[in-house]
Amino acid sequence: MTILGIETSCDETGIAIVKRSSPDSYTILSNIVASSLAFHAKTGGIIPEVASREQLKCILPTLEKSLNEAFNISLSNRITPPIDAIAVTYGPGLIGPLLIGVETAKTLSLLWNVPIIPVNHMHGHLLVNIIGNNDITLPAIGLVVSGGHTDLTIIKNHNTINVLGGKRDDAAGEAFDKIGRILSLPYPAGPTISQLAEKGDKNAFKLPRPMINSGNLDFSFSGLKTAVLNLVKKNGWDFSHKKNDQTLFDLCASVQSAIVDVIVSKTIQACTSHSINTVVMGGGVTANKHLRNSLSDNIEKIGGKLFYPSPFLCTDNGTMIAAAGFFTKTTDWDKINANPQLYY
Ligand code: KG4
Ligand code: ZN
Repeated sequence: MTILGIETSCDETGIAIVKRSSPDSYTILSNIVASSLAFHAKTGGIIPEVASREQLKCILPTLEKSLNEAFNISLSNRITPPIDAIAVTYGPGLIGPLLIGVETAKTLSLLWNVPIIPVNHMHGHLLVNIIGNNDITLPAIGLVVSGGHTDLTIIKNHNTINVLGGKRDDAAGEAFDKIGRILSLPYPAGPTISQLAEKGDKNAFKLPRPMINSGNLDFSFSGLKTAVLNLVKKNGWDFSHKKNDQTLFDLCASVQSAIVDVIVSKTIQACTSHSINTVVMGGGVTANKHLRNSLSDNIEKIGGKLFYPSPFLCTDNGTMIAAAGFFTKTTDWDKINANPQLYY
């Protein structure tokens, strides 16, 4: 079975073609991602209208490249590609970008006479781990850490994922990005903070680990952002022209460590309270090396195993939607609608 996956929930236009040869053998035939991140870097955050316009501009060229790479065919050849279904993100996300993906999927479904698979973006971030891993045992604890989400879940089976806890205010990626703004770092700041942190001392500043002992599996990172803001103001620091500065390196290391400590602690709490020691994670922040290493060490200590995607599959892409598509029911083109508020 071969699935074409379409992802347009936010600022990435991702179209991938994935083939399943056996229940645990998947091949990515193409994975093309166009991103409007450069536009959002100028404004320091995502403006939905700008994201929608870029999606519209990128969707057909991305489809064209994806078909070309997988099958060496072009849309203008009017050849029906050898795919069995079209999986598309129908939520959660921004309504404008979502609609562009969903309407494209409906059009292609009618044009090529193949069914549509409506995919929940959050499921995609977790199920992408099936690519390259055939030893994931379920139930597993699912952890999604992205710009918009910090969620702990139980993956009972490939299409039943129950929420255990989530963000109360800023998500982890959002915290990295907002703290980056305080430190005059470019948007999105997560990758830069993690890079600068390598030269810093994580114990240089004593920052709060919000809700670490709250007794539940919810997250809140806005207090950490306020603590950094107060520290920067109190000391009169301005890093807008100082990128090679030990104080900045130490701050980045301390911030990263605070965020990672909370995520690791809550994930281990989720494992022990549900007697599960397999953890599957996904989302942009899971590209963070300190998070991967620290979580992996702590899970090994309880005899478990951590699964995470290759860095190019952590951020939004079409492969994750195709991957989830293999486990989701097909539907008719007129039964699917974009749902920005969808959760799990
Ligand atoms: O999953 P994603 O691409 O988009 C959303 O669905 O939100 O995640 C983007 C987020 C941004 O907040 C970005 O700063 C963060 O992931 N991020 C990182 C790293 N790479 C991306 N955060 C920390 N360390 C990284 N290496
Ligand atoms: Zn995402």
